[in-house]
Amino acid sequence: MPPAAMHQSSTLAVPGHPSIPRHLAIIMDGNGRWATQRFLPRTAGHARGVQTVRRVVELCGRRGVKYLTLFAFSSENWRRPQEEVSLLMRLFVQTLEKEVGKLGEQGVRLRVVGDIAAFEPRLQELIRVAEARTAQNDALHLTIAANYGGRWDILQATRRMLANHPELLADPGAIEESALTPYLSMAYAPEPDLFIRTGGEQRISNFLVWQLAYTELYFTDRYWPDFSARDIDDAFEWYRTRERRFGRTSAQLAGSA
Ligand code: FPP
Repeated sequence: MPPAAMHQSSTLAVPGHPSIPRHLAIIMDGNGRWATQRFLPRTAGHARGVQTVRRVVELCGRRGVKYLTLFAFSSENWRRPQEEVSLLMRLFVQTLEKEVGKLGEQGVRLRVVGDIAAFEPRLQELIRVAEARTAQNDALHLTIAANYGGRWDILQATRRMLANHPELLADPGAIEESALTPYLSMAYAPEPDLFIRTGGEQRISNFLVWQLAYTELYFTDRYWPDFSARDIDDAFEWYRTRERRFGRTSAQLAGSA
């Protein structure tokens, strides 16, 4: 049995609006274009992107973000050229080997969500070890979405829910939102308050499709390798100015202030 959902659903209750997002979710886009602009192989952009990951993890820790979720590899990224996929896998392995000790010292708890069974056994083992080594940490919950897709997540949650509750098959009208959410792969985290996508595209690309229902969406043209501490603070500043109504009117919000 999965644990009961630990956080409120934005469609069932009205969450608060903390001045720093509790949960920040990022699509790290633009590595390839960053490299191409410099006449470098696309893979050089990914290598440089790892430096930005370090910078963002460190800054989020300092700013008090509690959950940071990074989309590293989508279910659809297997469609890329074989050599780019291999390089990305090597980068994940190297980064896990090199960084897990440091993450531990910074109080970061690392989790990987997605269908990791598709990865080579060595990478799966590194993921398991890294998750176990950091499991006691609570300063910042870092989630790497790898071979992840939002639709895959909803499907796997539905399958697991029905496997545990076969009686629901005979009574589908009894299925409540709260019955499904504990089975989503990020049930341990609140829904993202802020979503950032770098690289200029304005789409969700099958990221956390369930959880982004009421998330503030921020898009920037900056390529991921260039995404700086200043850029994150700009996004936080923009987020603070948002009126989060969660279905209510502005007048209602003013009345409850
Ligand atoms: C999107 O840029 C980026 C990716 C598909 C991979 C992201 C991976 C990293 C930042 C490095 C590894 C990360 C970790 C957590 C170890 P793109 O290639 O789609 O860029 P483009 O749109 O310019 O082609």
